[in-house]
Amino acid sequence: MTGSLPFSGIRACVFDAYGTLFDFAGAASACVDVLGDKAGPLTVLWRDKQLQYSWLRGLQGRYVPFWQVTGDALDYALETLGLPQDGVLRDRLMNLYRTLGTFPDVPDVLRRLKQAGFVTAILSNGSPDMLRDAVEGAGLDKLLDHVLSVEEVRSFKPDARVYQLAVTRLGVPAEAIAFQSSNAWDAHAASAFGMRVAWCNRYGQRRERLPGAPEHEIRSLAELPALLGAA
Ligand code: 2OP
Repeated sequence: MTGSLPFSGIRACVFDAYGTLFDFAGAASACVDVLGDKAGPLTVLWRDKQLQYSWLRGLQGRYVPFWQVTGDALDYALETLGLPQDGVLRDRLMNLYRTLGTFPDVPDVLRRLKQAGFVTAILSNGSPDMLRDAVEGAGLDKLLDHVLSVEEVRSFKPDARVYQLAVTRLGVPAEAIAFQSSNAWDAHAASAFGMRVAWCNRYGQRRERLPGAPEHEIRSLAELPALLGAA
């Protein structure tokens, strides 16, 4: 963990979903029987293209549900990697994406934050149906007070209207929200918006040169309760 003082004055802990709570690599790695050594490259290209499409559609004001963006990105990645496009593999991967597992640190941290009295929420690009299936599939429904989808604002992160949605729906000012994301660009955008941010650098990435400045860099969400005085 790096950063200055622990968080103070926090009332709500808000989490990004895909890459932060849910491990999107789980879909391709469950299909290694068909993908072989292309499982890793498929995960990377599928994710990169999914995010690129969300950013481009957000800039153009051409919102479609993240489920469609995820499918479009998968089609691009399958074709690029010369993988079967008969639909069977695609359906299998998309179904797996629907109910991704969590990273191991997630359930215990959410439980501890709830016990410490914090409001807990997801703020995600995911469509409402995607998030419902992921949250219920992972058994997190009783550990989250809110599940917020960008669908309500018909745009994608890092549009400021997405972070504003959390402030509006939780009824908590940005400076009382601790936002956690493994996606550094998302962490920077939330920080630039005014939230208190811990970048959960799960992938050991170098820091971004972007507006905003996450106050803390952690390698696992397990470090978060101590930052909040909820250890
Ligand atoms: C999310 O919004 C960015 O995919 C990430 O859940």
